[in-house]
Amino acid sequence: MSFNLSVIPTRHILLAVTGGIAAYKSAILVRRLKDYGFDVRVVMTQGAQAFITPLTFQALSGYPVHTELLDPEAEAGMGHIELARWADLVLVAPATCDVLAKFSHGLADDLLSTLYLATKAPVWVSPAMNQQMWAAKATQRNLQQLVDDGVHVIMPDAGEQACGDVGLGRMPEPEDIARQVAAYFHAEHRKVAEQYGLLAGKKVVITAGPTREAVDPVRYISNHSTGKMGFALAAACYAAGADVHLISGPVSLETPNGVKRIRVSSARDMLEASMNRLHEGCDVFIATAAVADYRVATIAEHKIKKSGDELNLNLVKNPDIVATIAQQEKRPFMVGFAAETQNVEAYATGKLISKKLDMIACNDVSRADIGFGSDENAMIIFFAEQYGLDKRILEKAPKQHISQQLVEAIHEALSKNVAIS
Ligand code: C5P
Repeated sequence: MSFNLSVIPTRHILLAVTGGIAAYKSAILVRRLKDYGFDVRVVMTQGAQAFITPLTFQALSGYPVHTELLDPEAEAGMGHIELARWADLVLVAPATCDVLAKFSHGLADDLLSTLYLATKAPVWVSPAMNQQMWAAKATQRNLQQLVDDGVHVIMPDAGEQACGDVGLGRMPEPEDIARQVAAYFHAEHRKVAEQYGLLAGKKVVITAGPTREAVDPVRYISNHSTGKMGFALAAACYAAGADVHLISGPVSLETPNGVKRIRVSSARDMLEASMNRLHEGCDVFIATAAVADYRVATIAEHKIKKSGDELNLNLVKNPDIVATIAQQEKRPFMVGFAAETQNVEAYATGKLISKKLDMIACNDVSRADIGFGSDENAMIIFFAEQYGLDKRILEKAPKQHISQQLVEAIHEALSKNVAIS
């Protein structure tokens, strides 16, 4: 599963580091959180500074590190109340027994304990300590109090500890923590999107990637499609509240979180899977797949042996998936893609009509900087005449941003309430 947070407004994570040996892992945690697109500011307790310097966190987060409650200079920059309001989530990692005790009793004698009381944001703690200290009754009592107060506890891992003991108390790996934070925001966003998203209540089926047409048991005909555009669109549709079914040929991409993936190989498999989804009900069908136009007429039962200087394969035409779906009596809103190297607009609008699409997004694949395999794309969108919408030019941008704009265009066309036939 991969989380695409680029469709969600940037979230602020206030990472609080307290004094334990696991503090070194928090430096990596800043990196991993930033990888997900979070804006990260760091607060350190006195104890934490005995293990790692504020300068490390300043360099990694790109912000001055907050260490003192009553520091006029820091307060003039971003005061503690402002900092508490800035946070969308306060993540205390590692969290010592001491900070858990302070939080559970409402002490406010340093910056972090004050922030804890001053923030409305969810607070997560990742306790990391010696296994005996973790098991101590006072620690467990304080933790229970924090859970009752609504604090989320990231359970420590078991294993070998810095002190030589073996047991519960290790801070989980930064990758795991960052992933849990990303999953949390993703789920939060989804809850809102299911109600208010641009595609709330819609079922969207997307084809993506290449198809593979077998020649014999070990060989096939295919193309260079990576599936990136279709996967980015699937994530954007999900973030917009849709129920997303992604029918994908063989690609090496992670399934976007929340998206239902159906793995297929040949064009005929892809058509069958598409028809099945259509029968189950589908509001929007988006064809991003680079379907092989031809397949070999007869797949050899055994590996074809090397013989003469030439080998002729007899190819037959594959079904046109998007056109087949568009011909069905009860059909969804149809979106096609066109990759052209010349006369881009003329060919794209021609396909819009011949394949009976409602919308087509086309790009110029003769440009080396966009299209196949690239992380960026630039497109022109055309709508079928009955929508009365002008063409839309999407300037070169990461595929995530292009996807977001495609979702907006689909929403706009759908809201015209044109009868689809
Ligand atoms: O005709 P062309 O391949 O250029 O059309 C591209 C559009 O048609 C894309 O949306 C592609 O996913 C779809 N297509 C399809 N089945 C095919 C060929 C293309 O769904 N056999």
